[in-house]
Amino acid sequence: MSERVIAIEGGYKLNGTVRISGAKNATVALIPATVLSDEPVEIYGVPEISDVKALAILLKELNCEVSVEGDKVTIDPTHMKDLPLVSDAVNKLRASYYFMGVLLGKYKRVKIKMPGGCYLGPRPIDLHLKGFEALGAKITYEDDTYILEADELIGNRIYLDFASVGATINILFAAVKAKGKTVIENAAKEPEIIDVANLLTKMGAKIRGVGTDTITIEGVEHLHGTFHEIIPDRIEAGTFLVIAAAAGEKVLIQNIIPQHLEALISKLKEMGVEMEVIGDSIIVYGGRAPLHHVNIKTQTYPGFATDLQQPLTTLLTQAEGDSQVKETIYAERFKHCEQLNKMGANIELEEATSIIHGATPLHGARVEATDLRCGAALVIAGLIATGKTEITNIYHIDRGYDNIDHKLITLGAHITRYEIDD
Ligand code: EPU
Repeated sequence: MSERVIAIEGGYKLNGTVRISGAKNATVALIPATVLSDEPVEIYGVPEISDVKALAILLKELNCEVSVEGDKVTIDPTHMKDLPLVSDAVNKLRASYYFMGVLLGKYKRVKIKMPGGCYLGPRPIDLHLKGFEALGAKITYEDDTYILEADELIGNRIYLDFASVGATINILFAAVKAKGKTVIENAAKEPEIIDVANLLTKMGAKIRGVGTDTITIEGVEHLHGTFHEIIPDRIEAGTFLVIAAAAGEKVLIQNIIPQHLEALISKLKEMGVEMEVIGDSIIVYGGRAPLHHVNIKTQTYPGFATDLQQPLTTLLTQAEGDSQVKETIYAERFKHCEQLNKMGANIELEEATSIIHGATPLHGARVEATDLRCGAALVIAGLIATGKTEITNIYHIDRGYDNIDHKLITLGAHITRYEIDD
């Protein structure tokens, strides 16, 4: 058996400009959202990632027309059919769970296989299901498949025990077409949720309070066509800020909303990274000063994003002294640490916390992208390591980073892909 790897020859300093793509975690909710409309919806700024391709397969299974022109995707649900989603495509991405909310909203019933996605420890969907039940759905689960059915959906008051991104969006999807008023309390506040609510509002939904912890939805009968441009990907932007700090000299990163990255920017400044924010761009001056160790605790937005702790960990291997990264969202999101240790890092794990003893030079090795952001952490490690790094399981990286090789090569990185024998 052979496998395609990303190979990076480390040590080349990066310079130039990179443009951030549309937000993956908004896109994977915006695309399912379009089927709530009775007319075509155009989405602009769609990133070229495999999660989008997997969603397009699911839409086609539902008899929606999907057309792609550059970064514009048009979804026409006019001839959509009420069908079960039980093919293997459902397992390709976690966000397939958004079809629960939209199909329940649209048809008052849905049959869907258990969603897939990165393994970051247990990832239950009990809060989504609790929300659907509160709106009147009956739920059964058999052979890895959920069946949700309701005679009608009726608005209700729903308190989330945890401010879950997925549950907030999914309940929003069902509630926009429920009868009467739904109030989601302790709702998540991530920018991707605001983006999704903006699209739904343009489609005719009545939503208030998004971006606060109480969202109020007044159900409507019909939603109509519109167009929408996706917000920039704050996690891709954060990854490039770290890349530039680790391997760059002067890198200009465009299409950023700096407010979405305040927690990371303040930690980078605390580490001693020099940056300049100019409108929707940030210039990073890498390698100007020695890096200081810092402690991080992941939190829901606007706290430090769990998706960025993995890439930042690679930079922390280059800081003098001990840094600590405490995970409060996914207790087991530390698989990247073992891989970084293979490259010369000195990271220990202790109860949902990684302790990074720095600074350690990194050397090339064959390492495994165990999940998407682990992949990003390893790409950064490969860029600063001496010699060649080969990253396996790169489908994880392609699920979430739009043309990462091309963007890095433009900045001066030496990256190729080729087949190796397992
Ligand atoms: N949780 C529950 N029950 C639920 C839902 C969540 O216990 O019903 C727990 C989870 O197990 C986890 C925490 O709540 O411990 C946070 O989960 P959340 O629902 O907020 O996350 P998600 O919707 O599954 C999205 C992103 C993740 C990102 C998290 C946190 C998508 C498709 N995924 O996941 O993105 O890490 O929010 O911000 O939007 C990534 O991009 O690499 C990624 C994993």
